[in-house]
Amino acid sequence: MSSIGLAVIGAGYWGPNLVRTALATPALQLEWLCDLDEERARIVLGRYTTVKATSSYDSVLADPAVAAVAIATPAATHFDLVRSALEAGKHVLVEKPLTASASEGEKLAALAERSGLVLMCDHTYCFTPTVQRIRELVRGGEIGDVQFVDSVRINLGLVQPDVDVLWDLAPHDLSILDFVLPAEVVPVAIAAHTADPIGAGRACLAYLSVWLSTGALAHVHVNWLSPTKIRTTVFGGSRRTLVWDDMNPSARLMIHDRGVDRVPVGTLAPDDRRQALISYRIGDISVPALPEREALLAVMTEFVAAITERRQALTDGRAGIRVLTLLEAASRSAENGGIRIPVVPDSNR
Ligand SMILES: NC(=O)c1ccc[n+]([C@@H]2O[C@H](COP(=O)([O-])OP(=O)(O)OC[C@H]3O[C@@H](n4cnc5c(N)ncnc54)[C@H](O)[C@@H]3O)[C@@H](O)[C@H]2O)c1
Repeated sequence: MSSIGLAVIGAGYWGPNLVRTALATPALQLEWLCDLDEERARIVLGRYTTVKATSSYDSVLADPAVAAVAIATPAATHFDLVRSALEAGKHVLVEKPLTASASEGEKLAALAERSGLVLMCDHTYCFTPTVQRIRELVRGGEIGDVQFVDSVRINLGLVQPDVDVLWDLAPHDLSILDFVLPAEVVPVAIAAHTADPIGAGRACLAYLSVWLSTGALAHVHVNWLSPTKIRTTVFGGSRRTLVWDDMNPSARLMIHDRGVDRVPVGTLAPDDRRQALISYRIGDISVPALPEREALLAVMTEFVAAITERRQALTDGRAGIRVLTLLEAASRSAENGGIRIPVVPDSNR
């Protein structure tokens, strides 16, 4: 199989990770690293490289050796860069969030579909071994019906110049939810409460509630101001509960065979009913062995597979749009004092 010529766009904080993982992916041939600051691209590549550095995106798109681009520039630039790449006939891997608005994302997804090109959104966490196992367990019915999801993603984060904490960190949690929940379990409403206690000019912490079509509730806490780094997500099910602690490499995922059952009233003697409507199940806790594998390498592998197999990527433009729809509704809620905003489920999921 001949390799796929790739250009990485953006050599800031995240772009070098795309460069490194592209170089480690045999099916990709990295041709260019493009940044408005050409010197920065040169420094990232180092002296001993055959990869070309440039500040001219037009030159990259005009190069017939380039079949695909991977874009790691600020979110506000994604729409124009992705559109130009698709119009030039290139497959696109773009960083989260897909674009700055769902309507822009919709235009790009439609353009990619019309052109028969891959548009993949880098929802990195979906490619971690832990989230892939959670998806199997949740979608496979192992935990029963999802009753609640509780996610905490807090640390001393960089206050971003262009986006608030919701748009910076919540795409991770919302893309994970989108990836692991069964197709029929979809968000129906969202509410967000945000605060900027340091006067940064944008929300630095946010509490997000996402109501699901089954009556379950997901909660997400994202925060740039916490001195302790916490990355935990709990998926509570009617049969089992999954506890993912990303800061604990020896037991990232724990499966609790414990929960709360409701006893059908009809089965109880009248005198027992008052006390025994709820029963608590105490069972084992197990820790599955998971491989340690870099998620971004798996992202590159999926991008290559989608191109060669001429199919949609696992986290395609539509997945990016579903995340944007929730982010927009969350921002609207926060601007209106945290009111509950209904969202229309995506019937294509
Ligand atoms: N997947 C993840 O876990 C993850 C982690 C961090 C950042 N990101 C995403 O990566 C993207 C970039 O974030 P970052 O932190 O690297 O930003 P950054 O500001 O550190 O770097 C962006 C780079 O893009 C360059 N750039 C801007 N406009 C350009 C253009 N038109 N053409 C070429 N180069 C251009 C800038 O010069 C800069 O070097 C964002 O969408 C962010 O959300 C994803």
